[in-house]
Amino acid sequence: MAQIEIIVGTVTGTAHRVAQCLATRLAQLGHSCLFNLSGAAPNAESVWLICSSNTGCGDLPANIQPFYAYLLNQSAYLGGVRYAQVNLGDSCYPAFGAAGASLETALQDLGAKPLCAMLTLDAVYTHTPEPAALNWLATWETQL
Ligand SMILES: Cc1cc2nc3c(=O)[nH]c(=O)nc-3n(C[C@H](O)[C@H](O)[C@H](O)COP(=O)(O)O)c2cc1C
Repeated sequence: MAQIEIIVGTVTGTAHRVAQCLATRLAQLGHSCLFNLSGAAPNAESVWLICSSNTGCGDLPANIQPFYAYLLNQSAYLGGVRYAQVNLGDSCYPAFGAAGASLETALQDLGAKPLCAMLTLDAVYTHTPEPAALNWLATWETQL
């Protein structure tokens, strides 16, 4: 069973709720989940599940910015890290999904391996993101 570190970036709690929903499903599958709400450097032995929203003008929420800084300052190759990302945004904003795209670029530059393509959820069309996130998880949960 996998050890999963769930790295959450949120302003008003939506991404946290999505993360909790995914954690419930992962626990049902027998995996152990640890929440990282401060953006502290994660355990490179864990699978990283990133659930973050966008704020400002394509910016990451303040609570996950230390994680982004950790990636940008990382000199080690992270080819052994497996990860998946949910990127919550709103296409009313010109920088739709830009914060999650920045994280994705930083992870791939370090060689981290995506378990699946990033899920980008648009609040204009997806009013309840939890079911969409669970459907996405179902496409890759067997890889854990
Ligand atoms: C002040 C503000 C700025 C935002 N800026 C962006 C943005 O630049 N790009 C984007 O895709 N979504 C943007 N959003 C939309 C949020 O990312 C979206 O509503 C998300 O679901 C909020 O999740 P949270 O409750 O976890 O913070 C913004 C929302 C607010 C309130």
